[in-house]
Amino acid sequence: MASSIFTHISLLAGTHQHCSFIRGKAMKELPSIENAYLIIEDDHIAELGRMEDCKFQGTRLDAGTIVLPAWCDSHTHLVFAASREEEYIDKINGLTYAHIAEKGGGILNSAQKLNDATEDELFIKAWQRLEEIKLMGTGAVEIKSGYGLSLEGELKMLRVINKLKAKSELKIKSTFLGAHAFPKEYKDDHEGYLQLIIEKMLPQISNEGLADYIDTFCESGFFNTEEMIRICTAGKSYGLKPKLHVNQLNSIGGIEAGIQLGALSLDHLETLTENEIAQLGKYKGASTLLPTAAYFLRMDMPPARALINAGAAITLASDYNPGSSPSGNMNLVHSLSCIQMKLLPEEAINAATINGACAMELEKEYGSITVGKKANLIFTNPVPSLSYLSYAFGNNHIKKVMLNGNFIS
Ligand code: NIG
Ligand code: FE
Repeated sequence: MASSIFTHISLLAGTHQHCSFIRGKAMKELPSIENAYLIIEDDHIAELGRMEDCKFQGTRLDAGTIVLPAWCDSHTHLVFAASREEEYIDKINGLTYAHIAEKGGGILNSAQKLNDATEDELFIKAWQRLEEIKLMGTGAVEIKSGYGLSLEGELKMLRVINKLKAKSELKIKSTFLGAHAFPKEYKDDHEGYLQLIIEKMLPQISNEGLADYIDTFCESGFFNTEEMIRICTAGKSYGLKPKLHVNQLNSIGGIEAGIQLGALSLDHLETLTENEIAQLGKYKGASTLLPTAAYFLRMDMPPARALINAGAAITLASDYNPGSSPSGNMNLVHSLSCIQMKLLPEEAINAATINGACAMELEKEYGSITVGKKANLIFTNPVPSLSYLSYAFGNNHIKKVMLNGNFIS
């Protein structure tokens, strides 16, 4: 059995005993041990405690080192064929969303490129993105389909995600997002596309075991609540729980419908009514916020403090995708959520670790530094305090990342 012992850890943060969603006021409690030791055996955490109780010799860490759980990023679209910086320049030059769509931009642009790409090309590009986020401390990630929008394209994306699952050191969950946008040929035949999703895509996805969850982009101009309910009800009959895009731009009933569907998470939430905030306060799943997407799209940030006051289980994710968040950097997500949404650093860490794990149903093995869980850890450079990590934004504070008990390079 391979084991390693680390001593004199300035702060071992996220040592939760109870692993379920943390919500409301409790989010500011981040269980931690100052001046700690930690023992890893093979791929898991074997023992931890205070230095005064440590009976072992081990690797003494530099003063100021904090050890945190690796980030659990529960919402990404990181399988895509090409970046879309031309749209970003168009927006700087003042073009509207409608103009960009007319020029063939947006999700349909990504779908065109994805359908033209081979499975191998997509795999290589997505693999590079996984390598990149791994070095930035992400240890578990959810990846959505949704740039195929055809039977072949959606299956191709989900097969790529399946290969990534099999080969990556990251723990991966996959979500079927066939209902991301109506493809051009179904622009005026929504019923036809719903039938394609429900009668063709879902049975084959289920047959091949290609998805863990189902998602719908519930938004004006995309899928309405009735369409989302039909798609998710069909998905649930194949065992896929909903994780949903709701209330990014408009409030059209996605929250209420999502709660009734028993969604595991409701994601985006930039545009919320008072009544919806109250509903999310009682909702047992994750209220997932994506601050880098709001930042990139120059939108108001989601009302995180109001959600916490209402009792919601806030979760933070990167939304890594070419259109609204071309970054999978969870350190930046952590910082932005403190600076722009006024989360306390402890709240943000809970939201991006244990609650992220819960939003992927991985909380038994990931999301905290708990005996028996996977040794997925971030070792920081020497820093003055936990708050410094989000305060000194944009700087790299990570010295090393450990996944499954091994330091990655
Ligand atoms: O989560 N909102 C819908 N989907 C993505 C953006 C997709 C795209 O523009 O490619 C999101 O922000
Ligand atoms: Fe998204």
